[in-house]
Amino acid sequence: MGKCCRVSKLCVLCTLLAVASVATIVTLWTLALVGDGGEVIEPWDRYRLPSALVPHSYNVTLWPRLSPNPENLYIFTGESTVEFECVTETDLILIHSNKLNYVLQNNDHMVQLTAAGEEPAPRIKNIWLQPTTQYMVIQLKEKLKAGRKYQLYSVFSGELADDLAGFYRSEYDEDGVKKVVATSQMHPTHARKTFPCFDEPALKAVFNIVLIHPQGTVALSNGKDIDVVNTTIDGVAVTQTRFESTKKMSSYLLAVVVCDFTFIDAEEQGTLIRIWARRKAIESGQGNYALNVTGPILDFFQDYYNISYPLNKSDQIALPDFYFGAMENWGLVTYRETNLLYDPVGSSNGNKETTVTIIAHELAHMWFGNLVTLKWWNEVWLNEGFASYVSYLGADKAEPDWDVKDMIVLDDVHRVFAVDALTSSHPLSSNEEDILKPEQISEQFDAISYSKGASVLRMLSDFLTEPVFVEGLSTYLTVFSYGNTVGSDLWHYLDLAVKKNNMSLPHRVGEVMNTWVLQMGFPVVTIDTAIGNVSQKHFLLDPESNVTVKSPYKYKWLIPVRWMKAGVLQSDVWWLNEKTAVNLDMRSNGPWVLANINVTGYYRVNYDLGNWERLLIQLDTEHKLIPLINRAQIIDDAFNLARAGLVSTTLALRTTLFLSAETEYIPWQSALNNMHYYYLMLDRTEVYQPLQDYMKMLVTPLFLHFKNITSEWTKVPHRHTDQYNQVNAIDKACQTEVPECLNLTSLWFKQWMNSPQHNMIDPNLRSVVYCSAIATGAEPEWDFGWSQFKDAAVASEASKLMSALACTTKPELLQRYLSLTLNSTMIRKQDASSVITAVASNRLGQSLAWDFVRKQWQYMFTEYGVGSFSFASIISGVTARFSTQTELQQLKDFVKEHEALGFGSASLAVEQALERTEANIKWLQQNQQQVLDWFTGQTGPHVVLMGSI
Ligand SMILES: *[C@@H]1O[C@H](CO)[C@@H](O)[C@H](O)[C@H]1NC(C)=O
Ligand SMILES: *[C@@H]1O[C@H](CO)[C@@H](O)[C@H](O)[C@H]1NC(C)=O
Ligand SMILES: *[C@@H]1O[C@H](CO)[C@@H](O)[C@H](O)[C@H]1NC(C)=O
Ligand SMILES: *[C@@H]1O[C@H](CO)[C@@H](O)[C@H](O)[C@H]1NC(C)=O
Ligand SMILES: *[C@@H]1O[C@H](CO)[C@@H](O)[C@H](O)[C@H]1NC(C)=O
Ligand SMILES: [Zn+2]
Repeated sequence: MGKCCRVSKLCVLCTLLAVASVATIVTLWTLALVGDGGEVIEPWDRYRLPSALVPHSYNVTLWPRLSPNPENLYIFTGESTVEFECVTETDLILIHSNKLNYVLQNNDHMVQLTAAGEEPAPRIKNIWLQPTTQYMVIQLKEKLKAGRKYQLYSVFSGELADDLAGFYRSEYDEDGVKKVVATSQMHPTHARKTFPCFDEPALKAVFNIVLIHPQGTVALSNGKDIDVVNTTIDGVAVTQTRFESTKKMSSYLLAVVVCDFTFIDAEEQGTLIRIWARRKAIESGQGNYALNVTGPILDFFQDYYNISYPLNKSDQIALPDFYFGAMENWGLVTYRETNLLYDPVGSSNGNKETTVTIIAHELAHMWFGNLVTLKWWNEVWLNEGFASYVSYLGADKAEPDWDVKDMIVLDDVHRVFAVDALTSSHPLSSNEEDILKPEQISEQFDAISYSKGASVLRMLSDFLTEPVFVEGLSTYLTVFSYGNTVGSDLWHYLDLAVKKNNMSLPHRVGEVMNTWVLQMGFPVVTIDTAIGNVSQKHFLLDPESNVTVKSPYKYKWLIPVRWMKAGVLQSDVWWLNEKTAVNLDMRSNGPWVLANINVTGYYRVNYDLGNWERLLIQLDTEHKLIPLINRAQIIDDAFNLARAGLVSTTLALRTTLFLSAETEYIPWQSALNNMHYYYLMLDRTEVYQPLQDYMKMLVTPLFLHFKNITSEWTKVPHRHTDQYNQVNAIDKACQTEVPECLNLTSLWFKQWMNSPQHNMIDPNLRSVVYCSAIATGAEPEWDFGWSQFKDAAVASEASKLMSALACTTKPELLQRYLSLTLNSTMIRKQDASSVITAVASNRLGQSLAWDFVRKQWQYMFTEYGVGSFSFASIISGVTARFSTQTELQQLKDFVKEHEALGFGSASLAVEQALERTEANIKWLQQNQQQVLDWFTGQTGPHVVLMGSI
């Protein structure tokens, strides 16, 4: 009701509503509403369904045609009966339907309505389709009666397009034969493109699915198949597969697939686990890793949630064309091939980690998200953030030696800090009434929802302690099984767990979490160790930006602080509840103070200069006394505080000096992420060479370290994180032109070119070796890379080559590569944006990519459609280096030119790009000279390695 009383007419309505019974409310709302301008808004012009009707079950039969019809269209036909209950008398039926064509029934209408029981159903007055709001509108001559059930029957057809939405078509090549797969992506609002349905997450129902498909193919859906028969329909010999009724679930979780894939299977505590993929992929063992980790992960989650897996089977399928990383359809999870398949011969350990964490993410949803579902899309963050957080726990169970839980700091916390520090950020949770249109819903699936969501839930679990968190979670899931919730329901059950465990927490869970969920951004906590003063402030990357969005909490957070003094961990969490407080224990004139241990808190930390100096000395003398994750934190915080003008740029640069003695992955990666900005800003300026020289100096010892522990590159390092850091060592050494490194990568690549059937390059190193060799090489290397890309039998191998092809230093090759994205037989649609952003990330390709995007925007936008992830990444990719007035002006012109068409799901990215460019311009003006001086000072004739300047 937050929006009430902005217009006087609405106020009257609101007052009425407040005193009316529930039944009256619904009737009023379904009749008509009054818009802001006073005009009447018909129910079919509103994006939310009225609440008069509730579906109970669907019987849906679908028949996808895997070869084109005479008009050269791929289509599917279907019939559907939905049984629904009327909860409030109404003479209007609204049901979602998008891009479906209906066959007229013998009553001359598109549907038949029947009533359960004796009384006849109301007669149909009028039916039409409302494309904007994606409804079928059915007006009745009489009213549906409250408490009674009705059935709506229809026969329809739709296009089985290659648009990656709804019931769609995916094609691949096997032994020179084109194969067609019919598959689906209902989430978030595409079930309505497959059959008429009440397509909102809270309208859960039971689905009875039948698929008709060519003989010899397999059909899959959420339930197990219970009846497979060969028959003839309309003179065509087909197989008809009937599936077990689903549990009560949301329409977006439905999945249907027809393919001639094969599978491998296993059983885990009575659950059938199958991994499906192209025959060749399964036969070459690429599904084995997924099969091996699925059992342990399912087991882990059953224990973790203390609820057994709700279904009797778990299918996971790898699709050649798939937009998202994966989709958690209940019982039939769909993946991009790279995310499910792992080739033991050619994939890297990074591919392996991707597979195991994405599987864990999707399986986590089987309970959190599927068994219990958020009521509406305004709280997407809770669903996605939660699954992202626990994916690390599930992966850790499957791969206990990897320290994979530490990765969340780099992959989520630090990554999302970068976006959440801009004024164009947004709160995790939105108002329900602000997220209505399909494109608004799609926009919710961004880094904030996933990564900030994961970060704040990890913080919550840390201050509650894991056992209390899990206990509350388990009760919540049990209570709301097969139902829907809002975020505050979870907080409530966590509070109950806190109480039950007699834990003393100064705030209720909701009180704390609201400060993180309902306002955008995050704080920087500043500790003055001279006097023990601790304060908080909204952290903004651009100190001059103005926050125009009001926050209900005035940008003050309830902050749990975990800290240590001289390496000794303080046992309790200390709460910073005010803008400024005093903690006398944090005073220090000798030992260093370090806060936000392991970065479990979603905030940055700044100190007085004296404490910064103490931390730097510790790093330069015995860096291992500072916990691993905090070595990464110190670098990331310092660089970002410098960007925000809170510490000097040279202080930030000094936090990297200890790296010449550091061999661990996490601090190195943190430094490289931050130096990446320096490369973006400076690699087209005079600072480039001194920057290269400095990095070369830091990385050379690391390169030699790995040469040593791998016995001259003949062994794979034992630890997972060492394998990662070996990649960094080679990548940076080659980029800074360490001769031995360049020799090594060109030699390996040459050997491969000489015998293409025998790629001896260590899979972990392939990305960097390909990139380095293609960068130093010329057209033959590029052409070889391209032909290997086209022939790659393994998706992850293809994706490495795809990135490496953008590493070339030859403009004509970069240009050729860009134009290939316009031809989907050369580069798949799902990959086009990755290629463009990869070219843009090359310092020589950046302006080519920008020109290309400007020229082709209209084409790409109409061809690829709105509501997808990739436009946002194209925009942020091509504008990443923008740091001059000319570039800013070009961006503004671009925005103006395409304003009319709009930017769809990239709107936010466009806004962020403008803000980022302005910040970059300022940064360069303020920092270029001192950065040049500092780098020159480090690598000049009198290098003081461990010292400070
Ligand atoms: C249906 O026909 C196909 C192809 O002839 C055959 O492989 C399959 O076993 C048959 N299935 C059933 C259930 O009879
Ligand atoms: C913020 O507001 C100040 C004062 O109104 C103005 O001078 C400044 O340009 C604004 N900053 C930005 C980035 O718009
Ligand atoms: C911090 O993380 C490390 C793993 O990197 C772990 O061993 C350690 O116990 C954690 N420290 C705290 C205080 O949780
Ligand atoms: C090389 O590794 C060995 C042990 O594997 C170690 O003793 C030696 O100090 C290392 N040498 C260098 C230069 O890192
Ligand atoms: C690079 O390779 C060439 C030819 O194989 C060799 O002569 C040279 O010494 C190598 N350079 C380095 C730094 O290893
Ligand atoms: Zn998810």
